[in-house]
Amino acid sequence: MTIGVEGTTASAAAKTILDSEILRVEDLHTSFFLPIGELQAVRGVSFSLHRGRSLGIVGESGSGKTVLARSIMRLNLGANVEISGSAFFEGRDLLVLSRREMRRIWGSDIAMIFQDPMTSLNPMVKVGRQVTEHLRKHNGVGRQEAKRVALDLLNEVRIPEAASRIDRFPHELSGGMRQRVSIASALACEPSLLFADEPTTALDVTVQHQILNLLSREQRQRNMTMVMVTHDLGVVAGRTDDILVMYAGKVVEQASTVEIFDKTQHPYTEALMRSIPRTAQASHAPLVAITGRPPVATHLPKGCAFSPRCPYVQPRCHEEDPVLAPTGTSGHKVACWYPVGSDSNREAFERNLSNRLPQTLAVAESLGADQSSETLISLPEGGLA
Ligand SMILES: Nc1ncnc2c1ncn2[C@@H]1O[C@H](COP(=O)(O)OP(=O)(O)O)[C@@H](O)[C@H]1O
Ligand code: SF4
Ligand SMILES: [Mg+2]
Repeated sequence: MTIGVEGTTASAAAKTILDSEILRVEDLHTSFFLPIGELQAVRGVSFSLHRGRSLGIVGESGSGKTVLARSIMRLNLGANVEISGSAFFEGRDLLVLSRREMRRIWGSDIAMIFQDPMTSLNPMVKVGRQVTEHLRKHNGVGRQEAKRVALDLLNEVRIPEAASRIDRFPHELSGGMRQRVSIASALACEPSLLFADEPTTALDVTVQHQILNLLSREQRQRNMTMVMVTHDLGVVAGRTDDILVMYAGKVVEQASTVEIFDKTQHPYTEALMRSIPRTAQASHAPLVAITGRPPVATHLPKGCAFSPRCPYVQPRCHEEDPVLAPTGTSGHKVACWYPVGSDSNREAFERNLSNRLPQTLAVAESLGADQSSETLISLPEGGLA
């Protein structure tokens, strides 16, 4: 079924879901119809999320993370947008609910934190009041009680001197404080699902860590389900249970966080991994920018969308787009014809090296390896990192 974002179809099909499953997204597509053509921002994303778990959605800027989150949440994506597929939240397909039904869900059952807290905070309203806005609206909590709850929440998100800050306006607080206020506001109605879209990208590194740790702590303590959207694999390392890697609107790899880091299978995930500083990494280990640029979403290449940048690319990759398929390890899925760690991947690398393919040479160089096939073929099991 295909619906516009404002579309409403009355009957959400009855759906049998596992008891512990809170969100099931099935074959979600989101396209924008622009004068230059169709821009396929999300191209058939499916995943399921169980209660109390945390999921990281990772990919470079433009890979479709925000559009995916906003499509699920039914938040405004502008004009000329078409969304298809389904997003079952506690068994109800959000994509066919009316705006009125969605308004009941926003803020109470599902909450969202944005990169820029000013997107969700009203500059004209004092912070204490906006922290409990949803609480008063949805639960009919009185003024005095709301103020007490607001103070508790501001203390919980560690706003220093919360009692005096409760009557301040957002612009009177620092960026980090404002993000703490928007977290407090999101937590006020005790949502069962929280989306955090690049919640720390605008903040400096020290504050980033504090906010991310705060979110992880709240998620665990409240047994809340959380989706953390980020361009930085380092942000979700050790903080989420599972990771979904997106490239050009598709999921290219999906696994537990431990598995993604220990047994990387997609060349794009491997490239992302090499481009982040890791504390466990030797200080001399090179950081490598991913060769080339992400594709323009209106003009995706034929076959695998990562093919112009992939160091293992083979002729088949230019023709056929690999589907996301199980790898044999429980829950680990990958969309690649030559997954990292496989013999076919090693052979592909060797061939591309002999053909002096620029992105393959760049990887070989970053490894500090002699660019002969003999050296590279002796690289350790499980990849090149
Ligand atoms: N409202 C919109 N209208 C047209 N194109 C959009 C709109 N929002 C996002 N896009 C496009 O959709 C693609 C995915 O964007 P987005 O989801 O914001 O990426 P990410 O969050 O991963 O950085 C990009 O090509 C972006 O330019
Ligand atoms: S090896 Fe081929 S299928 Fe796999 S990521 Fe590279 S280009 Fe895509
Ligand atoms: Mg985004």
